[in-house]
Amino acid sequence: MTASVLENSVSGKLLVWYDAHARDLPWRLPPGRPLPDDADWPYRVWLSEVMLQQTTVAAVKPYFAKFIATWPSVFDLAAADEDAVMAAWAGLGYYSRARNLVKCARVVAARGGFPDTEEGLRALPGLGAYTAAAIAAIAFGRRAVVVDANVERVVARLFAIAEPLPGARKAIRAAAERITPEARAGDFAQGLMDLGSQICTSKAPRCLLCPLRDVCKGYAAGVSESLPVKPAKAAKPERYGTAFWIVRAEPGAPPAVWLAVRPPQGMLGGMRALPDDGWTARADGTGTRPLAGAWRDLGAVRHTFTHAHLTLRVLAASSPVAPAGEGEWWPLDRLDKAGLPTVFAKVAARALAGS
Ligand code: ADE
Repeated sequence: MTASVLENSVSGKLLVWYDAHARDLPWRLPPGRPLPDDADWPYRVWLSEVMLQQTTVAAVKPYFAKFIATWPSVFDLAAADEDAVMAAWAGLGYYSRARNLVKCARVVAARGGFPDTEEGLRALPGLGAYTAAAIAAIAFGRRAVVVDANVERVVARLFAIAEPLPGARKAIRAAAERITPEARAGDFAQGLMDLGSQICTSKAPRCLLCPLRDVCKGYAAGVSESLPVKPAKAAKPERYGTAFWIVRAEPGAPPAVWLAVRPPQGMLGGMRALPDDGWTARADGTGTRPLAGAWRDLGAVRHTFTHAHLTLRVLAASSPVAPAGEGEWWPLDRLDKAGLPTVFAKVAARALAGS
C-alpha cells in the first residue's frame, strides 16, 4: 500500500469507529456533536486534560466531579483559596499541576475566558504543547495534532515506526500530522486515544477488532506488539526516611496530630504533610528528630513515585509542645480533610492502626 492510501483512509475509518465506540466520559460530548458556545465548555476540557496527564481515566473521574461541583467555572476556580484546591487535589499526585491550575485559572479569568487557538493556549501558565493541542482540538474544533502516549503507540504501529523512543517521536509526530483531518480534529484525537486504550493496547493488542487493521503496516508486518520500541528502563532508586506522628498531649484538648507544611520547592512542595527527616536519610530511623523524648516505632510504609521507591519508618510520640517550623495541630477526626498526599495518608493510616 502506498503511504497516501494509508493516510487518506485513516481518519474516515477511525471516526466511523469512534461514532460507534466512543467512551462516555463526563468531560466529553457525544461524537459528532456541535461544540457548545458556552464558557464552561473549554473549562471542563482544560480541567480534564490537566488531570489526565500522567493519571488514568478511572482515577480522574471522581476528582473531576468534585472539582466541577466545587468550582463550576474557571472564574470560581480563579477565586478559590489555593490551599483548598491543593487539598482537593490530594491523592491525584504531581502536585505542581494543582498549583499551575490555580495560576492558569487566574490568568484566564482576568482575560475573560480561554484563548481559542493553540498558540494562545500554549502561552498560558503550565500549559504544554500536548495540552494546548488537545484543548484547541477538543474544546474549539481546531485542527491540532494531539499526541499522547496512546496516540504515540497507535501511530508507531500504524506506520511501523521501528526506531526506539524517544528518538522516534519526531517521525511519530510527522505521521500524526499527516493523518489528522481538518474537520472533527477533537473527535479524531479522542478516537485515537480510545483506540489506544481499548484496542491498540500495549500488551496483547486486539487487532482483529481494530478499524485500522487493513491499513496498519505494523499488523501487516506482524510487528505491532513490539512497537513502539521503548528504551531500557533505569531501575528506580530506593530512598529511605522517617516520618513523625506527633500527637498533642494536652489534657482536655481534642486529639490532634502535628501537620507540617512542606517547603515550596521540591517533592510535594507546599503540601500539608507529616514531619519527616528528608528522604535521603538513614534507613534505620536514627536520624534527626523534631523533638527530644521517647519515640515508638510503628514500622514502615512503602510508596512508589514515578522516579523512586520510598520506605518511610513511622515513629510516634506525644508532646505538649509543638515542634519547630511551620505547621499546626490538626484534629484527628478531620484528618481526611487535611489533603495529605497519598504517601502521608499511608503513614497516617499506619499510625492510627498502631496507636
Ligand atoms: N487522556 C487524555 N485526554 C483524554 C481524553 N480527552 N479522553 C480520554 N483519555 C484521555
